[in-house]
Order: sequence, then structure tokens, then C-alpha cells
Amino acid sequence: MSNLKNLLNQNAKWAYKLNRQSPKLFTDLAKGQSPHTLWLGCSDSRVPPEQLTDSNLGSIFTHRNIANVVGNQDISFLSVLEYAVVHLKVKQIIVCGHYQCGGIKAALDKQHSGLIDNWLFTVKSTLKNHSKELNVISGQNKRFNRAVELHTLAQLENLARTTIVQTAWVRKQELELHACVFDIASGRLKYLDKSYQSNEDLD
Ligand code: CO
Repeated sequence: MSNLKNLLNQNAKWAYKLNRQSPKLFTDLAKGQSPHTLWLGCSDSRVPPEQLTDSNLGSIFTHRNIANVVGNQDISFLSVLEYAVVHLKVKQIIVCGHYQCGGIKAALDKQHSGLIDNWLFTVKSTLKNHSKELNVISGQNKRFNRAVELHTLAQLENLARTTIVQTAWVRKQELELHACVFDIASGRLKYLDKSYQSNEDLD
């Protein structure tokens, strides 16, 4: 119970502090949300999007899973994506991977961990597709970091190929897709310099 008690206490202090700073904040938030960004990230406890971008409540709509997988058969992800694009009309979607990602490490090391092996199937196939580039990288850490980047870029492309995004572009909705990687050791986000803004950006 002590972990729960701590969380409840922390929450009470946090709400009190924010309310004092900005008395209308919570009542305004209760009226609705209008986030500018959909964030697709990893469930890892070290990568909370609002905190690492110092963002306000209500500004980032979020979907997180192990290894920030963008799966075109994942009904949970697709529901979030559709709601964010069609109803909330977010202006950008960020796929954010992170260095030291346990999911990527498991796929890279070909570990067998049970159910998660199925979840990481798509990660393994991306790594296999890029095995030529990865195999010539000397240094385990460098190879691991590059695997995270390549996986994140592959998820960005998966995202651009979803019917939800493609349909939004057909109706000329403003929607940019970007890929970043969070470097836990420095606290910095690295932009992967790849974006999609229309169907023309796809081969
Ligand atoms: Co991760």
C-alpha cells in the first residue's frame, strides 16, 4: 500500500500546486481537449512524453506500447490514431523510440521471453531487413542505438501507410509525421530528420 499512498499524496500535492498557480486550469481542461500532437512511444517508465517535452496537460494525445510498435492490425493503436486524426485533428504525429529500449534489445539478441516474442515480430523483421548495415557496425552499443533508429524510422513509414493517415492527406488535412529518438543518458530528443507530409512523400 505504501507505493499507492505515495502516489495519492503526490497527486494531491501536485493538484494543489497547479491549482494555486493557475486556478482555472482544471476546470478549463474538464471542458475538453485539443491536443496538437499524437505521440506514439514506448511504455518504458523513463520516457514519459509530457515530462520530457515539458508540455502542458491537454497538449499531447498518447499511445504507448513496448518498443513503440506501429502495427496496422493493432486495433488499440488504430482506434487511437483514428480518434486523434479524424476527431481531434492533431497537426503532427511523433513516433518516438528510445535508446536502451528493452524491446529492441530482446529482438536484437534474439532472446526468447514468451508472449512478447510475438509482439516483437515486426521489430525482428526490420532488423533483418537492415542486417547488412547493422552487422558492419563495430561496438555493441552503436549497433543497438542504430537498431533503435532504424526500427523507429520503419514505424514512421508504417504510420504513413495506414489508411487513416492516407485518407487524411487525400482530403488535404494538415498532418505531419516525424520520428525522434529519446536519449535517456542525456535527456535529449534526437530528431531523425525524416518526415512525411503527404502521399507524395511515399514511394
Ligand atoms: Co522501450
